[in-house]
Amino acid sequence: MALLIYSPSHPVADWAAAIRALAPDLDVRLWPEVGDLAEIEVALVWKPPAGLLQSFPNLKLMQSFGAGVDGILADPNIPRHVPLARVVDGNLTVGMTEYVLLHVLHFHRQVAAMQQNQRNGKWQWLPPVDPGQRIIGIMGMGTLGSHAAQKLLGLGFQVASWSRGLKAIDGVTSFHGDEHLEGFLRLCNVLVCLLPLTPQTRGIICRRTLSLLPRGAYVINAARGGHVVDDDLLHALDSDWLSGATLDVFNEEPLRDGHPFWTHPKVTVTPHNAADSIPAHVAPQIVDNIRRLQTGQPILRLVDYTRGY
Ligand code: NAP
Ligand code: GLV
Repeated sequence: MALLIYSPSHPVADWAAAIRALAPDLDVRLWPEVGDLAEIEVALVWKPPAGLLQSFPNLKLMQSFGAGVDGILADPNIPRHVPLARVVDGNLTVGMTEYVLLHVLHFHRQVAAMQQNQRNGKWQWLPPVDPGQRIIGIMGMGTLGSHAAQKLLGLGFQVASWSRGLKAIDGVTSFHGDEHLEGFLRLCNVLVCLLPLTPQTRGIICRRTLSLLPRGAYVINAARGGHVVDDDLLHALDSDWLSGATLDVFNEEPLRDGHPFWTHPKVTVTPHNAADSIPAHVAPQIVDNIRRLQTGQPILRLVDYTRGY
């Protein structure tokens, strides 16, 4: 069985080595050395060029490098009769929770104000805020959101969540559906976006939704850049409606030279590495799905094409 690997941003040779070590019988090929297109039965991809996946007539499984699949579904011609699997990995999940906690605490413990005071040589005691007085709102209560929520609760924060379907999670004030988005946003001192990027969620962090947050709120986007309308976020920061933002993902990646986010005093930029897929951690689940394919067992971590995630 031949597996094609394509990614513009992952260390593909490391991925090939990790997969070959677990499955020496697999014929692992790195794009553009594809060989006979008809021999490719599995494709491990990230942001494939439009038409690539359609060009394999005997494709039986598409596998994403990561948890998100928007970069694959962006190609309108992907073969939708072929199952698409994504990554669900405990290490990646913990990595995302670390990222969320780090930046929630950055806001909660007033790190930016203290750094400014240090730069000015100013010793100023800042009154602490009880975490129980802060409401952290998580948009997207799936694998990543629900794990982060538990750890935030453990630190004593109040947690609210917003998802498509109704959730009942102990200690979390849960909202769902478009009709309850406003009620959710009005509570959030920190808004954490962990949604998949779909037609329904594109541009969801915009002038209207930002205006519904309490004044002084903080935004953390670790999902996809397409969730944010950049100019609207900049306006909310510059008008002092928001106290700050941490952004890991951008409409254009890498973030272009000169983009205002780079130098904005209220913005923290990280280079889309909130939570990475690591070959040693993720290769086993990819090989497991290939074995399932070979033995006729159900493929795991399937994407639902109708939901788009
Ligand atoms: P997931 O398990 O599929 O969870 C997605 C959550 O979003 C679910 O709770 C879902 O609601 C909710 N949702 C989807 N569409 C919605 C809508 N229209 N309205 C309200 N809620 C909606 O995904 P995940 O594994 O947690 O990953 C989330 C995203 O994180 C990925 O898609 C990826 O883009 C991003 N990510 C980023 C990084 C990084 O390094 N920056 C790393 C990994 C992942 P239901 O529960 O009701 O279905
Ligand atoms: C990273 O962005 C992922 O979707 O896993």
